[in-house]
Order: sequence, then C-alpha cells, then structure tokens
Amino acid sequence: MPAPALATVGSLCQDVPSRFEGPHLGSDRAETELALTTMTNKKMSGASDHNILVVDDDADIRLALEMLLKYEGFSVWTAKNGREALQRLELETTAGNRASLVISDVKMPDLDGLGLLEELSRRPNSPPVVLVSGHADVPMAVEAVQKGALDFLEKPLDQNRVLVSVRGALRQGLLTQENQTLRAKLADRYPLVGTSAAMEELRSQIARAAVVVAPVLITGENGTGKEVVARNLHLASNRATGPFIAVNCAAIPAELIESELFGHEKGSFTGAFETRVGHFEAADGGTLFLDEIGDMPLAAQAKVLRALETREITRVGSTVSREVDIRVVAATNADLAAAVEEKAFRMDLFYRLNVIPLRVPPLRDHIEDVEALSAHFLADLAARCGRAKIGLSEDAKALLQTIAFPGNVRQLRNLLEGAMVFSAGDQLAATDLDLILRGGPALASPTSASAAAVGGEIFDAPTFEEFKNQSEALFFRRKLEANGGNIKRTAEDLGMQRSHMYRKLERYDLRR
Ligand SMILES: Nc1ncnc2c1ncn2[C@@H]1O[C@H](COP(=O)(O)OP(=O)(O)OP(=O)(O)O)[C@@H](O)[C@H]1O
Ligand SMILES: [Mg+2]
Repeated sequence: MPAPALATVGSLCQDVPSRFEGPHLGSDRAETELALTTMTNKKMSGASDHNILVVDDDADIRLALEMLLKYEGFSVWTAKNGREALQRLELETTAGNRASLVISDVKMPDLDGLGLLEELSRRPNSPPVVLVSGHADVPMAVEAVQKGALDFLEKPLDQNRVLVSVRGALRQGLLTQENQTLRAKLADRYPLVGTSAAMEELRSQIARAAVVVAPVLITGENGTGKEVVARNLHLASNRATGPFIAVNCAAIPAELIESELFGHEKGSFTGAFETRVGHFEAADGGTLFLDEIGDMPLAAQAKVLRALETREITRVGSTVSREVDIRVVAATNADLAAAVEEKAFRMDLFYRLNVIPLRVPPLRDHIEDVEALSAHFLADLAARCGRAKIGLSEDAKALLQTIAFPGNVRQLRNLLEGAMVFSAGDQLAATDLDLILRGGPALASPTSASAAAVGGEIFDAPTFEEFKNQSEALFFRRKLEANGGNIKRTAEDLGMQRSHMYRKLERYDLRR
C-alpha cells in the first residue's frame, strides 16, 4: 500500500515546506483539497473497511487528517477531545460500528491523549491508538508506548509518516483481533470446568503462573486434568499465540528420546533419513509441555536439564547450538520427590522444574463439580455424534455423587460416553450408568475401533484386520479399567514396555 505521491505534498501542517507555496495542509482547506486531488496516489487496499477516529482540539489538524485519510478511502470520525472520543466510540458501538484505529493528539482539554489511551486500554476489544503531539519529548513517547500506544507521531505531521503508521497500526489491530479470536477459540477447546473452591483455587494459581516464565510442575493422579491445566496455562500466558508442544515422555523409546526432544541431522544415526526439528525447537516462542516427566530416562534427564539451564539445544549429529525461547511445563502422576530419593529422578532437574508447583485435585476432592463436568461432557459428546442434547436424570446425578472415581475426570467422561451409547432418550438414567459401572457392554469402547465390539458383535467385524483391532482395543480398555486407568501399572501387569503401551492406547483412542 505505497503512498508515494503524498510525500510530494510535504507536511500536513505547520512550517515544513511543501511544493505548494502559501499555506500548508491543515491551514487552508482549498489548498489541502487541491493538493490531495491532484495526487496520483494509489489508495490503500481495503481502506473502506476501516473507520478511523481522529481526535484533536485543533480544527485545522482534524480537518487535514480527515481529508488525508478520506482521500485514502477510510471512513473518518472526528472528536475534539478524549471525552468526546469516548462518547463517539460508544455511540458507534451501539450502532454496530467499530473503529479500527484512533489517532489522537496528546495535549487536549477535557481528557488528554494519554488519558484516552488509558481509558481505552481498560476496555476489551479497544482499537489501537496512535498518539500525535506537538510537544513531543522522549519520556512522553515512552510513557505512551508503555501505556499501550502503538506509535507516536510528532508535529509537524509528515503525510508519509502518518500513512506508514496508520498502515502498521491497522495491521497490528487486525493481528490482535485475530489473536483474540484464536485465543477464545482455543480456550473453548480446553475448558477447565468446575466451580468448586478447589477448582477456583487452581484457576487463580494458573493465572498467577501464567504471567511469569518460570517452569511449572503439574502433579495429580491419572485423569485429573493435568493436560487441560497445562493448556490453560499456555493460553493465559503471553505466549498463547505461540506453539504449545506436548511431549509424552513415557511414549518415546529411551533410545529415541534425545532426537525427539532436540532433533537430529540427516544421517546422524541409522534411520535418520531426514533432518528433523526436535520438540524444544518446535516450541520456540511458546510452551513445551513435558508430560509424564517421571518416566523420562536418566540419560535424557541430564540433557533436558542442560537445555533448560543454557536455553540452548544441539541437534543430534550437529555441533551447532541453537537458542530456544521456551516456557517449560512438566506434568507427572508419580511422586517425583520419592523418585528423587530412589535415584530414579535427578534431584537438580526436579528442583529446576518444581519452581511453580501446581497440584490438580482428584475428582473425589471436588465431587461437587461432577454435575457441571457431566453437563459439559454430555454436550460435547452429543455434538460430536450429532445427537440432540442429553441431560442427567435426578437419580443419575445422585448416583454420580457416590462413585469414588479412581480414574478421576477421565473416568467420568468415559462412563458418560459409554452410558450414552445405550441410552435412547434425552436423559441418562441411573440404570444407564449402572450398566456401565457393572462392567457390562461398556467394556467395549463406544468409540473408535471397538465401537462394534459390544456383546458378541466383535465377531461381526467385516475383515480379519478389523476383528484384530477391535479385540485388541477391547483387551487394552479392559486391562486399563482393571487398573483404575493407571497406565504404568497396566503396562507392568501385562509385562509390556510403557512406551509400547502408550502407543497402543493412543492408537485406540483410549487416553482421552
Ligand atoms: N476440569 C476439567 N474440565 C473439563 N474437562 C476436564 C477437566 N479435567 C479433566 N478433563 C477431561 O478429562 C480427560 C482427562 O484429562 P487430562 O488428559 O488433562 O488428564 P491428565 O491428568 O493429564 O491424565 P493422565 O495422568 O492420564 O495423563 C480429558 O478428556 C479432559 O478434557
Ligand atoms: Mg496427561
């Protein structure tokens, strides 16, 4: 969106020479109009979509800016001071119009530019502000930017500079808007449901942890919502628009963990056919979520500690170290302090990760949230399978209050999911839940590969491959349930490597 011709006009006001003799833009309307209409300037594309509010107590400057911006195709509103500007914005909002940008003078009677900026920064979805001052000095510019101004222009105004600033501010405004929408959308995908005192406390801890970059260690039993907490923490931080990279440390075979975390160069080991960026690099500018950190092999722990300390990583097979800007959030259901005692976990890494400890309570400690959680899951599950909304009968609600939930929120979700499959009406009854609780048809996952495996239907599988998948899914689901959702114990029970077990669970969608 270049504005080359404007440069030839010179300045918008005051004593900067232009190729026009006599009064400058901003001091004579006829001259200004002539200057603007004789220009062969290409207008900013999409300008007509934007309303810009010009605030200045000097009528000439207001007019000059208005004409310049209108010439560019913008729709322009004007106000004489901050107070009037706020009133105009409110009026326009009520009428369904939105300002894309405010260009405001600093020195004005009745709410000056800095005051206006402060007011706007307190209101959600406010337009970005560019300040203009004839009395500009560095401290004031710094103060303005600290208070959230996007740019600071000095009088006499240069038209090119004005347009460059407008363009930048609009771009920034659009980005901010996009980010806000994106954030809201993402937060929607990972809601932290529950209004109990325990959940409120957790929420306030998340909010406090979100404003710093120190590592966070989330602990809690299986299925309590550790990953939901980690995602909410990321979304509440100023890295929200950066990447959130979740790494399940237990699912990576020990021999591959270094290359998974730090990446590798092509040919650095057998099987390294391509250069690969590791999770640390992928999380640059965002959050790295090291899930099941208690299962990280000791050798990898040493390397992770080094990376956290130096904020640098080196890909396997490379000699070049790369800086990474990441916020580390780790989670575990293991007792890491005990693992440190047993020398299964490095003490120095434990202390480095445990700077901000967040404990997610087991569901039995906030059982009062079961109803809200159930409503949330039922709505979500119904939407997923295109069913009408489904509620809970009073006896179902009462029954839910009596369950111990060793598998916590995940178990609740699975229970509801199972019961939903066998309920026909618009309400889940206690009998539907009971059916699942007694280990009836629910032993088959109502979702994914094992959906058809209810009762003897597994034998109806159309192919041998499908039959094998369904039986395998059923087997793992049953074993997992027998171990209260504890993956480590299930793996031990089955004599399987934990990373192998995780891959199976992920394959059959058994870890939601
Ligand atoms: N407070 C909550 N609000 C909404 N959903 C929740 C909440 N807590 C947990 N969940 C849901 O419960 C399931 C398990 O949560 P999550 O995966 O975060 O648990 P976890 O503690 O990481 O489990 P694990 O120890 O097995 O890794 C997910 O489907 C998640 O969306
Ligand atoms: Mg988890």
